Order: sequence, then structure tokens, then C-alpha cells
Amino acid sequence: MEKSIFGTLSSGAQVHAYLLKNSNVEVTLLDYGATVQSLKYKGVDVVLGYKDIKQYESGDDYLGAVIGRVANRIKGASFTLNKKKYSLYANDGKNTLHGGKNGFNAYVWEVENYTETEIKFKRLSPAKEEGFSGNLLVGVRYYLTEKGLGIEYTAVSDADTVVNLTNHTYFNLNGDETAENMFLKINADYYTPIDKNLIPTGEVLPVKDTPMDFNWAKFVGKDIEEEFEQLELAGGYDHNYVIKGDGFRECAVLSSGRKNILMRCFTDREGVQFYSGNFLKGEMGKDGYEYKKRYGVCLETQSFPNAVNEKAFKSPVLKKDEVYKTVTEYRFEDFLPVE
Ligand code: GLA
Repeated sequence: MEKSIFGTLSSGAQVHAYLLKNSNVEVTLLDYGATVQSLKYKGVDVVLGYKDIKQYESGDDYLGAVIGRVANRIKGASFTLNKKKYSLYANDGKNTLHGGKNGFNAYVWEVENYTETEIKFKRLSPAKEEGFSGNLLVGVRYYLTEKGLGIEYTAVSDADTVVNLTNHTYFNLNGDETAENMFLKINADYYTPIDKNLIPTGEVLPVKDTPMDFNWAKFVGKDIEEEFEQLELAGGYDHNYVIKGDGFRECAVLSSGRKNILMRCFTDREGVQFYSGNFLKGEMGKDGYEYKKRYGVCLETQSFPNAVNEKAFKSPVLKKDEVYKTVTEYRFEDFLPVE
């Protein structure tokens, strides 16, 4: 077990790094944001991260962080629950993004337990934080599988509230240049199209015969510049896919021919936000690479964005004393391309 000091925040608070390790996988996690700072499969670091805590503090790319209380966007920074209107902080134009002004990514979490292969972070998000109701006790347990990383989220509130937790890790299985040349498959026949503010319109449309279709693995960048309104609105992919089936199942597969690594994402969630890193602006990464536009891609398993305001979407409301529990795993294997 290794715990070290990662850095000091502008508030003076110390941030620690924790290492999880087995014979295939090595993961460094920060208590700031319960963040995945590094994830190595057979020695190759496949995620984006910073060396300096100041970059985590000032950046707006949410690298590797846990996102909450509500991931993605809430239209008009408000919603109605039990006939009461809640107003949130608008940090994305008129809308709320990734929890508001200070989302869960911007807090130092407590460590409840820590072993060589798992760590559990917890945090009490007080009632009224960012405008949400209910004192919410959140747990995020990261655990190693034989060849991967699992994330189990739990939450319980003392009043009805809204919860949609995810992790914002950017993957680049090649570890350099761009993520556009990775292969991606997403197990989804439908997606939720967005408006000009990247908020779902409420429709659920088929991906068939559009550049949104990833049912057959293709390069991330293959169709990304096509003249297709949905791609133009987001400057690439930044869309929620409706994962086929239910229960804990495979939702997407990402692979790199160059490093012979394949990653399967499994989840019990109904949606996955495929974000092709369109807003990355060239921040200096931990390995000396500049994280330019589309340097990494996120597969954020989640409830549908803005579901609290959209009757057609499954409700993200967590009732008082009910237990919220959801699991996502990123599993790695060796991928040998056909000669
Ligand atoms: C999410 C959003 C994107 C962007 C990033 C953070 O994935 O959907 O639009 O805000 O987070 O840069």
C-alpha cells in the first residue's frame, strides 16, 4: 500500500495519492475529486491526468474526477421536485453542468478504507449545496479486477433529491497524439439528440445510417467531421447513447491497434455519454504531452442528461432513505489485430 502527498490546494488543504496495484493493473487515485490520476495496464498509462494539483484545481476538463451530484447538464439550472422549484448555480450559460459551481470533483473526499486493491472514498454533500435538497452521503469504491478497474457508487439522502454520479476519465489507449485513431464500438441502437446548448431535446433517435452509429467498431474520427447537425452542434461527439439491454452488461469497447490494448466498459446504467474531448485546449499532461482537442475520449456511464426535466427519460430522483447503488467496470485485455 502506498499513500503519498500529491500537492496542496490554494486553501492549504493537502491532497493525497493512493496506489492500487495487482499484477496487471496499477491505478493512482487522488482524494481530491476521488480522481483517477493514472491507470496503467501492463505498464501503459491509458488515461489523461495532471502532475500538478493546481491544474486539477483550475482546469475545467474534469480529468478523471467523480462527477456529482448530477452529471451532465440541467436545463435552465432548475427543476421541480415534489411541486417545489429548485434553483441551481448556472455554470454553463444558463444551465448547470456537472454539479454546478463546485461539483464533487472540487472537494477533498474522506477515505473510509484502503487496501492494496481497493479504496472507498466518501463525502457528505450537505443539503442546499449547489441548490440541491437533502443531506447526501456518497460513497465511491474503486476496486481492481484481475485486469481492470471497477467503480461502485452508493448514495443515500435524508430528503428526496436528484442523483446522477459518473466518472470523467479520458482514455487514450495509445498514450499519445490523438484519440481519433482508436477503434470504438458502442452497444446502442439509439441516442438522445441535443440542442445548441448540448442538452437532449427529449427525442430518442436511431443511430442507424448516421455518423452516430458505433454498432460496428470504427475509428473515433472516421465520421466526426461529417456534415451532420448533431456533430456540428457539439464539435464532435458529446452525446448520450441508450445502452442496449439492461442489468450489468457491456456498453462499449475501445481499442488501440498500436499498443494492442482493448478496453471493455461494463455498466448497469441506462446511458453512456460518449464525449470525444472536443473542448480540450492543450493543457500540459502528466507525461509531457499537450492535451489538445480530441486527445482523449470519455465513456461516462450515467442516467440520461437533464432527465429531471424530461418526463420521457427515466427519473433520476432518489427518494429519502432509498439506497442508490450502481457499478461500472473498465476491463482490459490484449488486442491483437488481424495481420
Ligand atoms: C462532459 C460534457 C462536455 C464537456 C465535458 C467537460 O462530457 O458533456 O460537453 O462539458 O464534460 O469539458
